[in-house]
Amino acid sequence: MDAASLLKLLQRAWWTVAANHSPLGEFGLGDGWPVLKKSKLDISDPVLVGDRIVVQTKLVKRSESEIMFRQAIFREGRSDSVAEADTSFECVDQLGQRRAFPESFLNSFGIGKHETPGSVRHVSVGNWSSAVEVHGTGADAVLFIHGFPLDRRMWRHLTSTLTGWKRIAPDLRGMGLTRLPDTQYAIADLADDMVGLLDALGQDRAVVCGLSMGGYVAFEMWRRHSDRITGLILANTKAAADDRAARRGRDETIKLVTQEGPASLADQMIPKLLGTSSLNAMPRVVEHLRNMITETSVDGIVAALKAMKSRSDSTQLLSSIDIPTLVLTGEDDKIVPVGTAKEMAKKIPGAQFVSIAEAGHLTPLEQPIAVSRVIGEFLESLR
Ligand code: MLT
Repeated sequence: MDAASLLKLLQRAWWTVAANHSPLGEFGLGDGWPVLKKSKLDISDPVLVGDRIVVQTKLVKRSESEIMFRQAIFREGRSDSVAEADTSFECVDQLGQRRAFPESFLNSFGIGKHETPGSVRHVSVGNWSSAVEVHGTGADAVLFIHGFPLDRRMWRHLTSTLTGWKRIAPDLRGMGLTRLPDTQYAIADLADDMVGLLDALGQDRAVVCGLSMGGYVAFEMWRRHSDRITGLILANTKAAADDRAARRGRDETIKLVTQEGPASLADQMIPKLLGTSSLNAMPRVVEHLRNMITETSVDGIVAALKAMKSRSDSTQLLSSIDIPTLVLTGEDDKIVPVGTAKEMAKKIPGAQFVSIAEAGHLTPLEQPIAVSRVIGEFLESLR
């Protein structure tokens, strides 16, 4: 097969991925249009007419001015690629002038700066109130619980793309737009908050998807309210409680943040939160992450650190999980190493384990397309 035909196939794969995962309909309305900038194709083994092939497409770079997809072609059933391509797109307006990608497009990859107007509401849960984004309708719901020190905005790609499911993404106490109560809370209180939120939204049961600290909350939900959970997605998280060294580390972080503010935490955490390739190639993700961390109050950060420091160990709980479970991690996670996540998955009867390439601790932000595909397939398997 000649290179031009191969490029056409790759292009088809790119458009399919983009159309499935971003609001491409919003292009062409005066906002601009993505145009091909550069394509580099390396063919290591000829692809013949009649060969059955699989094209894997990954987003590897995104900034306001350029997005790049890396694609690999495999013969069906083989793991060594026969060709690889890097394709970059830039955005032009109707006059063909270069411009930044529309905010709505960047939002769909979880990295935009602005809220969708009206997307956040405040829901009363007893004497407490939670900021929450709810997308979609229907009985099939997914509750997305964010990690530390982040907020609901880390789920943007998934909340805009997993149509067909009601997507509920709250801010935990003291994070994002949810205020911090006057008294210290425990992770178990956050689990009760989540159930109060489901009640307030009239949602009987939901699939619970928690990342890292959100996973600690998911474990507490399972311990306390298992009848409200139809499936579990445990992303970049672990079941073990903090050991002595980790607790000491929490105290040091509390001291640092109290003395020097949230920017010091951003400096300390960003290199650990992101995988090396994301740190080098995804400046918008780094910026988005820094914004989320520095917009969190010192009190909110300190309260979350104290709650995590004293959380229960959930290792013994794992064997009791008898609902469909997906354990998801990033190959370059420096906070919860792949091995730890894999061991955890082995202890959950029937759990599926997926490790995402070129991602660190924040898989949904670093590899949004791969993660939404894996989560989308898991959710479909539950129907
Ligand atoms: C998180 O991402 O939520 C935190 O890294 C969890 C933790 O510090 O244990």
